[in-house]
Amino acid sequence: MSSTKSSESALKTLIESGEFLNKFNLDRKTYGLVFDKRTLIAVYEVIKKYNIDMFDFPISSGKESVVFRVLSNRKPLVIKIYKMSTLKFSNTSDYILGDYRFEREKLNRVNIVYIWARKEYTNLSEMRSAGVSVPRPLGFYKNVLLMSYIGTKKSPAPQLRYVDNADFNDIFDAVLDNMKKMYRNAGLVHADLSDYNILYYRRKIYIIDTGQSVSIKHPMAHDFLKRDVNNICSFFSRKGIKKDPDIIFKSIVDG
Ligand SMILES: Nc1ncnc2c1ncn2[C@@H]1O[C@H](COP(=O)(O)OP(=O)(O)OP(=O)(O)O)[C@@H](O)[C@H]1O
Ligand SMILES: [Mg+2]
Repeated sequence: MSSTKSSESALKTLIESGEFLNKFNLDRKTYGLVFDKRTLIAVYEVIKKYNIDMFDFPISSGKESVVFRVLSNRKPLVIKIYKMSTLKFSNTSDYILGDYRFEREKLNRVNIVYIWARKEYTNLSEMRSAGVSVPRPLGFYKNVLLMSYIGTKKSPAPQLRYVDNADFNDIFDAVLDNMKKMYRNAGLVHADLSDYNILYYRRKIYIIDTGQSVSIKHPMAHDFLKRDVNNICSFFSRKGIKKDPDIIFKSIVDG
């Protein structure tokens, strides 16, 4: 099959997945799950550039993004598409402007979504170089991000909140170790860390969803880190593992 033909069929699969509900009127302003025309074109560019030959299944469809498992040369990957219409300017600008890596960006309602996807890509790359366990970032274009897939042929790795029958002492140690590497080696704070944004696969954790992660020089970095530590401690406390958030916070920041 020629590559044009296969990318066309990938696009068809995507359209038929139900995310493009008003596919007959793509110029219209979009609501709910529907993508706008710019997003459709961006997805098409990613399909061509990265040889995506199949949209396998949707993994998650949230308020601000849609995540699909796709196949590229038979390898499973993940495409995360930020929704142009619902990614909130007010929720995102603070995480961009306070971060010296992005503070020179001129923000408007359209490009903030593109910057957000690029920021997630940059954060994944910097975390990965620092030894943090995250999906491998493979590329981005406009509001579309491509990364490695964590999970089996049939189902994506579960979020930590759905995991039973595991050694939560070991998992806690792994989460803390990754938070330390993120802070000390990458110089970053996740800023939305919880049992929702950690996947568990073959006894290993993977930290995901890093669009909002900021440099430790961000004026709010320590507030974000405290919130992350509190989320993590309260999750593990429900699993019977009681840790003092103040001590954990200090152990990350002071070493
Ligand atoms: N690389 C991946 N491999 C497997 N599953 C993934 C991957 N990335 C994301 N997911 C799944 O998709 C879900 C949503 O992804 P993510 O947390 O990055 O987006 P989100 O910003 O929380 O989405 P929303 O705001 O729309 O809820 C994750 O909770 C996870 O279940
Ligand atoms: Mg998430």
